[in-house]
Amino acid sequence: MTRPKPLTVLGIETSCDETAAAVVRVEGGRAEVLSSVIHSQIAEHAPYGGVVPEIAARSHVETIDGIVARALTEAGLTVGDLDGVAATAGPGLVGGVMVGLSFGKAMALARDLPLIAVNHLEGHAVSARLTADIPYPFLLLLVSGGHCQLLEVAGVGACTRLGSTIDDAAGEAFDKIGGALGLPYPAGPALERLAEDGDAARYPLPRALLGRDGCDFSFSGLKTAAARIAATVSDPTDRRDLAAAVQGAIARQLTERTDRAMLAYAREHDGRDLRFVVAGGVAANRAVRASLHALASERGFTFDAPPLEFCTDNGAMIALAGAERLALGLIDGLGAVARPRWPLDEAAARLTPTHKAGRKGAKA
Ligand code: KG4
Ligand code: ZN
Repeated sequence: MTRPKPLTVLGIETSCDETAAAVVRVEGGRAEVLSSVIHSQIAEHAPYGGVVPEIAARSHVETIDGIVARALTEAGLTVGDLDGVAATAGPGLVGGVMVGLSFGKAMALARDLPLIAVNHLEGHAVSARLTADIPYPFLLLLVSGGHCQLLEVAGVGACTRLGSTIDDAAGEAFDKIGGALGLPYPAGPALERLAEDGDAARYPLPRALLGRDGCDFSFSGLKTAAARIAATVSDPTDRRDLAAAVQGAIARQLTERTDRAMLAYAREHDGRDLRFVVAGGVAANRAVRASLHALASERGFTFDAPPLEFCTDNGAMIALAGAERLALGLIDGLGAVARPRWPLDEAAARLTPTHKAGRKGAKA
């Protein structure tokens, strides 16, 4: 049998406030990141305390060509060396998504390359496979600024949702509570630092969905309660204690709900090949990682998380999802559209929507 030929794919990511591009080569099922360039727009959004969609879209337009050129140069390649171009087509801020997707389409059209329109969440889902050999299927906790879901990942295009947030994402809770504590956006990393010497037991916080069936999440009660306390504390010790309590409460809920998913997953898989992956920006949090790692060990699951640079948004995860899709012949036409909302498991999303059409709520 002939070995499948290596595939070299450019990945473009513009769904939020990072303009990112990367080149990934997949050979014999193993990925190699040849380059990964990430331009963060944080400084542009910081004065507004959150991402401003119009500013994000304009900034993507201004930087995308330079970022893609750098990704190719740092990989030591030219467009002619690519086998495909992958771009995030959603979910996310539609103006930004359109910039990256249109740029990818233009490259694909100009150089007669296949285009792969990638779901940003699928990028996070495969991100741990950039640097580790993690066979499918695995149980995934995807936990970021816009998303919080538990999924069984059997491959690209084959994700089944086990649970998701019924209101806010965990990263959003970190950001909003951190904001109330006066921390700069995105507040997750700063809140983690503030929590370092804090006493997590000092402030009791609500424990949503405790003991409730299923593995959905809820963070809005915690967010409101903690933000209210944050408005009343100014003493440095109080601030540290509150940050520790918030981080502990988020880690605890993520762990409790993941435990339910692990038990169901283990039953479904007859206790064999139990693999667990946590990905997305909040997976960068050491307390969250440690708590999930301990749970995985207890339940007999392997534990993996991407290196920090691939936890938060990046182009490499989009390139890898694109390469895996390309290998399966899952390519898209130039008519692919940008989708602000795009659940990974569309069947589950139709049956048990986490938000009603037109309402504000979790993106997926
Ligand atoms: O995956 P990501 O870059 O973007 C989305 O797709 O949402 O995740 C960004 C989120 C932000 O909410 C940020 O505060 C959070 O990840 N985050 C963290 C940490 N690093 C990033 N949250 C807690 N602790 C961290 N160390
Ligand atoms: Zn993301």
